[in-house]
Amino acid sequence: MSWFGAEIDGPLVLTRAVHFTASAGIAGVLMFRSFVAEPALRPSPEGYAIVRSRLAGLAWMALAVGVVTGLIWLVLQTMSIAALGWGEAVKSGEIWTVVNETQFGLVTEIRAVLAVLLSACLLLRHSVLSRWLALLVASALVAAIAWTGHAGSTLGELGNLHLAADVLHLCAASAWIGGLAGLAILFEVGRRRPAPEWRPLQQDAISRFSILGMISVAALIVSGLANAWILVGSFRALLVTDYGRLLLLKIAAFAIMIAFAAVNRLWLTPRLALVPKEVAHPSALSALRRNTLIEIVLGLAIFAMVGVLGTLHPAIHLVQ
Ligand code: HEM
Repeated sequence: MSWFGAEIDGPLVLTRAVHFTASAGIAGVLMFRSFVAEPALRPSPEGYAIVRSRLAGLAWMALAVGVVTGLIWLVLQTMSIAALGWGEAVKSGEIWTVVNETQFGLVTEIRAVLAVLLSACLLLRHSVLSRWLALLVASALVAAIAWTGHAGSTLGELGNLHLAADVLHLCAASAWIGGLAGLAILFEVGRRRPAPEWRPLQQDAISRFSILGMISVAALIVSGLANAWILVGSFRALLVTDYGRLLLLKIAAFAIMIAFAAVNRLWLTPRLALVPKEVAHPSALSALRRNTLIEIVLGLAIFAMVGVLGTLHPAIHLVQ
């Protein structure tokens, strides 16, 4: 399959994109639970219990998708390293050479242990300690992806900076996109809750998420610029390479997401606060719900682009 003439490995790109989405989804949903849902819905234990079980359901689903795509990614990586077909890569035992002798293999092993730990934390969902541990382990699970991509192959001091920027980037991407999924669930549960009780709590949750969103966006821009500086290096490389053009498309999608987030924060949220709490389905709330879903779709498109970006030669190597 080709992208503007650049040959890309379709199955690898798809697997990476779905895996990034699932890993970011787990961490983001758990960040939303701890920093938004739990504090905002404390006055409604029954309402919070429903939201918490829905968030846990999504975290489990994302974990399952993450484990399956992680295994497929390992096989696809083995196929490309050893130039083997799917069957041979699995049967020949070459996969163990990749697991035991490559950085990708070591990171995959560590992430497999983190996935098992995370399952245990999610099972022990009633203990406060296991909830915070789940958040920590889920963040480590997504952050470790940095060692599998371009950031993992940049050497020296610059390599440390690149890894730090990429870890921040992955965690911020999780908080925003995974958090949006959490917000969509909260809106969904809110449809069936008595408005006078739920509207003020929902308004509080929206404001708390908005703060989490702003911090994530700031972190995404700073870490994204650091990544771009290391992997692109010049405006010329941004314009004349496949890598650069794809990154520009990604930044364009990001800018559209920011526009929707700004409308939500600066216009819809203040308007919603003025509507009497007895009104169950004010139009501002439907608009917020719709914009949240649009932002999620744009976020998924960005994960798809990143699925490709990490398989292309960084622009900085292609332009003198
Ligand atoms: C919603 C916004 C964004 C999301 C969800 C997102 C997500 C991601 C993810 C998951 C990666 C993969 C990291 C890896 O493979 O190690 C990545 C890499 C990257 N991102 Fe972003 N990002 C976002 C915004 C941005 C912005 C605004 C910029 C630039 C200013 C940017 C620049 C980059 C670069 C240069 C890379 C490195 C790709 C590579 O490994 O070749 N990102 N992003």
